[in-house]
Amino acid sequence: MGDKEEFLELLEKQGVWVNPQLKDQLFENFKKSKFGFDEINHAINQDRQLAFKISRELNYPLVPPDSLLITITNRCNLRCKMCQFPMYASDNELSLPLLKSLVDQAISMNVKRLNALGGEPFITKSTLKLMKYAKSKGMEISTQTNGLLINENNIQGICETVDSLGFSIDGLEENHDFIRGKGNFRKTLGIIEKISKLDKKPDLPIVTVLMNHNFKDTPLMIKNLSKWHVSRINIQPLVSNNINYTKRDKEDSLWIKESNFIELDETIEKIKELKKQGHPIINTLYHLERMKLYFRNKLPPFEFDCYNGFNNISVWSSGLVGFCFGAFGDVRRSSLKETWYSKKAFDLRQKMKECKKPCLQNCQELKEDG
Ligand SMILES: C[S@@+](CC[C@H](N)C(=O)[O-])C[C@H]1O[C@@H](n2cnc3c(N)ncnc32)[C@H](O)[C@@H]1O
Ligand code: SF4
Ligand code: SF4
Repeated sequence: MGDKEEFLELLEKQGVWVNPQLKDQLFENFKKSKFGFDEINHAINQDRQLAFKISRELNYPLVPPDSLLITITNRCNLRCKMCQFPMYASDNELSLPLLKSLVDQAISMNVKRLNALGGEPFITKSTLKLMKYAKSKGMEISTQTNGLLINENNIQGICETVDSLGFSIDGLEENHDFIRGKGNFRKTLGIIEKISKLDKKPDLPIVTVLMNHNFKDTPLMIKNLSKWHVSRINIQPLVSNNINYTKRDKEDSLWIKESNFIELDETIEKIKELKKQGHPIINTLYHLERMKLYFRNKLPPFEFDCYNGFNNISVWSSGLVGFCFGAFGDVRRSSLKETWYSKKAFDLRQKMKECKKPCLQNCQELKEDG
């Protein structure tokens, strides 16, 4: 283990920008960690997973985040029963020039992917314009949509620009329409089918939110994936509040009922079996298994490292930059880089390291199945 100057020199040589305010704290954390100079060198150059691990020990990012996530708008054309986004719609969204500047800033920080989020991302023309801009600068583009605002005018542009176009399907027809509005199941599947026939098409995964009324639909949904022209499914357990996903302060009629727990377990076992048979399910077996306890409110804290503070830089539609534990900056006031490496982010990462919340987000180090 070297001294402070050597340590800071090493980071500088590896292209890690060190906030002058945090030099001492960073070195203190390095001394307490079990890592040495060689491991830091190796991690930064060759092993992103290890780099995230060391970053977590230091409370400071050693490698750029994978993606820039921007919630472009909270507005939406739908009012799905489980979703809080439209309630937080605001007129004060980020302007297109500022959004483009965020893309430029992220690229200069070496971020390779833009994930454009909503609300419904295609409710504003800014979304496709921003995606095209980021694509022209070499970024990979992904988004998540209800699909209903994809039409003759934008379908070509979307498909030429987006690499991964995720759709929400919340059950088979009856249950999807109960949550998302009558007729919308067929409309969304119709759009997916149309896209699947184009020469240039993005990857087409779906997300389904697991809830009381629809959980039994999932095995059949999985068997239908290729008939629906989608590539993969991600099963996301319901959160009580998807603006603040660790908030659990109300009785939720969509939450899986105690009387259904046995059937939930059986369904999860069926899904795991389908995954073992090779059906394209994004969740790991471990993640699926944990859903049983999650819905019983008995999920123990995550026993693996959570990299939420390191793998994505997330800008909310208000312009605040935040983690699940709160905001640490504002893109209207400071640059992404200043924010990402700020003392406030450093302090929040420290709190997140001690997180004991029963969380089933996908932003954690996922235990390999096997
Ligand atoms: C907020 S939506 C935005 C994108 C788009 N409007 C859509 O519905 O796909 C992003 C994802 O969050 C999911 N979602 C909404 N409310 C949720 C909740 N309470 N718990 C978990 N996921 C939720 C949606 O189903 C969707 O897959
Ligand atoms: S889940 Fe998506 S489509 Fe439904 S209300 Fe929320 S943002 Fe809109
Ligand atoms: S486990 Fe990670 S993503 Fe989940 S609440 Fe804790 S810090 Fe946030």
